[in-house]
Amino acid sequence: MIKTSGLAKTFKGGVEAVRSIDLTVEAGEIVGFLGPNGAGKTTTMRMLTTLLRPTAGTATIAGHDLVTDPQGVRRRIGYVSQGGGVGPSAPVGEEIELHARLYGMGAAEARERVAGTLERLGLTALAGRPGGALSGGQRRRFDLAFGLVHRPSLLFLDEPTTGLDPQSRANLWQHIRRLREEDGLTVFLSTHYLDEADTLADRLVVIDHGTVVAEGTPAELKGGAGTLDDAFLAITGRSLREDGEAAEPGSPPGRPHGEPGVPDGRADEVPAAGRTLTRSGAPGGRAAAAGKRGNR
Ligand SMILES: Nc1ncnc2c1ncn2[C@@H]1O[C@H](COP(=O)(O)OP(=O)(O)OP(=O)(O)O)[C@@H](O)[C@H]1O
Ligand SMILES: [Mg+2]
Repeated sequence: MIKTSGLAKTFKGGVEAVRSIDLTVEAGEIVGFLGPNGAGKTTTMRMLTTLLRPTAGTATIAGHDLVTDPQGVRRRIGYVSQGGGVGPSAPVGEEIELHARLYGMGAAEARERVAGTLERLGLTALAGRPGGALSGGQRRRFDLAFGLVHRPSLLFLDEPTTGLDPQSRANLWQHIRRLREEDGLTVFLSTHYLDEADTLADRLVVIDHGTVVAEGTPAELKGGAGTLDDAFLAITGRSLREDGEAAEPGSPPGRPHGEPGVPDGRADEVPAAGRTLTRSGAPGGRAAAAGKRGNR
């Protein structure tokens, strides 16, 4: 479902956010994408979802070539970005219907499909509210509805449960599992919650400094000793990834994590035409000198 070879992204000014990523994800898998802040997860996801043009490498996503057939890729995938896609003022149900129409559904079909998706995610009663009047957890579930309404076969989720309470997280996991079981959906999700990765994912891919440093099942990464947190720290080290380290000389200091907008980066984005996916999340952290270790 995903196959990449040497996928890389160097931003204007020389920030090597993703150095070289080789990935294989099979149909029906739930794969957890782990890595410290600034490791290159969001940048990789934005490339895989056609929002950002790679500077090197090749990828086939859901049977379509990423570079030569981005429209083909877009039709088959859903993307829930780190920052989410729910706007503050329009009723969310209407926004999702519009999103479905953008994917080519007729009015009646879109209405029916939206109703079914919201029902499944337990959101029907909230559909008339504007995004600004939803709680964080409710908004995240609507983000998931945006990612699913056009029946993708592959779903990218960038930190879908950050900031959610334990109930909302467990609820979202349940939905994700059910989507895989009932629809055969393939899921590629990033998370910093290693209990989540352990519980939800069939397989984990750990990246650091823009390259894969370990991969395997949660049990394989744990190696029979300790928790996934222990394994993660052993693989990626204990030093903090401070903002700005890998930034180009003279660039402003690091932004708080999750704050939207990197002026330079916009120039790297794929032009707006045809961008029917959710708005992309804000990048954070930094990249630094590459070091490949772990249980490969
Ligand atoms: N548009 C951009 N222009 C310049 N540098 C960027 C841009 N976007 C991201 N970066 C840098 O690329 C590196 C990887 O960022 P990315 O957002 O992919 O990390 P991440 O693994 O998603 O981190 P987090 O866990 O904090 O979300 C960081 O050093 C970041 O500062
Ligand atoms: Mg990120």
